[in-house]
Amino acid sequence: MSTDRPTGSTFPVTRLRRFRRTAALRELVRETRLDVADLVYPLFVCPGEGVENPLEGLDAIVQRSVDRLCDEAEEAHALGIRAVLLFGIPESKDEEGSGAWDDEGIVQRAVRALRGRVPDLVLVTDVCLCEYTSHGHCGVVEHGEIVNDLSLDLLARTAVSHAEAGADVIAPSDMMDGRVGAIRAALDGDGFERVPIVSYAAKYASAFYGPFREAAGSAPSFGDRRSYQLDPPNVREAMRECELDLAEGADALMIKPALPYLDVVAAARARFDVPIFAYNVSGEYAMLKIAAAHGWLEERRAALESLTAIKRAGADVIVTYWAKDVARWL
Ligand code: PBG
Repeated sequence: MSTDRPTGSTFPVTRLRRFRRTAALRELVRETRLDVADLVYPLFVCPGEGVENPLEGLDAIVQRSVDRLCDEAEEAHALGIRAVLLFGIPESKDEEGSGAWDDEGIVQRAVRALRGRVPDLVLVTDVCLCEYTSHGHCGVVEHGEIVNDLSLDLLARTAVSHAEAGADVIAPSDMMDGRVGAIRAALDGDGFERVPIVSYAAKYASAFYGPFREAAGSAPSFGDRRSYQLDPPNVREAMRECELDLAEGADALMIKPALPYLDVVAAARARFDVPIFAYNVSGEYAMLKIAAAHGWLEERRAALESLTAIKRAGADVIVTYWAKDVARWL
């Protein structure tokens, strides 16, 4: 077929700039939108009263006592945030991390208080031992090794005590093999079959957790987490982690960190029809905060662009320290 004019497949008939001309046109054809309803706000709870202890320069990374935590959660909820992710800093630590499953432990008390104060807020609890062990590892340590199977029972007990306190969702982040199955069985055995598990299935041994470890007091006292967290170069292995966690009963998957692992988010999205969470971690937050503090970039634009990218890659839910800011910005 021959025509005097091009048929519309190339320039000058085709001009992609037409839909970019005005803000309204751009908005009309926008493919990805951030929504406050998709965000989870991480919160750190510590002992005491009236305590509010921020990490310098990182406004949203703050240790708070239960009373202040409740104020913060109430404010976040009023802004439209539907879910928080809780991390505990216990009074004292021991070799086993017994503070993790103590019914009067810091997270358990926080959950009960939040439940009373902001009833509709979705309470997700991080299940791990690293904040509670004296050595700072995520499982039981014997002869300098992190022993997998001995850790499972402790993690399962922690999950059950969170559910008993009133947690809506359990999020294990320890990366022991078999922990999702152990937690599912324990929850079901105690009548918590309704409580979903969001598994940190693909959690990498990343350099981007620095500020978190400072806020949570959870840096390992020896060695590192490479014998249990994923090796950063691997994506096929991450898919196996996801597959196994789903087989063990995970209801949703978490990829972490987010920005350096968008290919992993996209791969998980393509492969698994469950909600995909991505954790925009403390180091990702810190990078933009410090650059913005120097006037090198605009925090709002850079943060929204980053979070949109995480969504575009395929995340349904984003865990982010910018949750409250986004609620105000949108
Ligand atoms: C603990 C845990 C970590 C984070 C969430 N849960 C740190 C780690 O594995 O060392 C990091 C979150 C962040 O950096 O924002 N298992």
